[in-house]
Amino acid sequence: MSIIKINAITVASDSGDELAKRFAARAGAVDNADGFEGFELLKPTDDRTTWLVMTRWRDEDAFNAWVASPAFAHGHRSEAAASAEPTQRPVGVHSEVWSYTVAGGSPGSN
Ligand code: HEM
Repeated sequence: MSIIKINAITVASDSGDELAKRFAARAGAVDNADGFEGFELLKPTDDRTTWLVMTRWRDEDAFNAWVASPAFAHGHRSEAAASAEPTQRPVGVHSEVWSYTVAGGSPGSN
């Protein structure tokens, strides 16, 4: 049974487009990770400023291995926070990881 890991990233109200651009620039970066089953970047359609990175993994071990890998570190460089160059700084002001498993549902018919 797959697991769902959601990174909820809160941005300043005018930074959402920049977040989307940064994700677009990293398209494919996670695709080859063992046990990775896909992700979606979810943009709020109301006035919330929290975007969701909804990722799906084979199991906890696969997710933990990716987070511990050089590939993750490369895509999430912590020195960016201290960068003097504003375009390199993280756009998120807060983030937290939510952990879920599928407990029911339906594939729909359309
Ligand atoms: C659930 C898994 C993930 C975790 C725990 C995670 C962790 C993080 C964290 C802590 C941030 C910083 C947020 C902030 O600025 O406060 C971030 C931003 C980001 N992550 Fe992830 N991430 C995950 C999945 C992904 C995936 C699948 C991708 C796409 C390859 C990705 C690409 C990015 C990008 C582009 C940013 C924005 C960096 C910036 O502001 O320059 N992340 N992530």
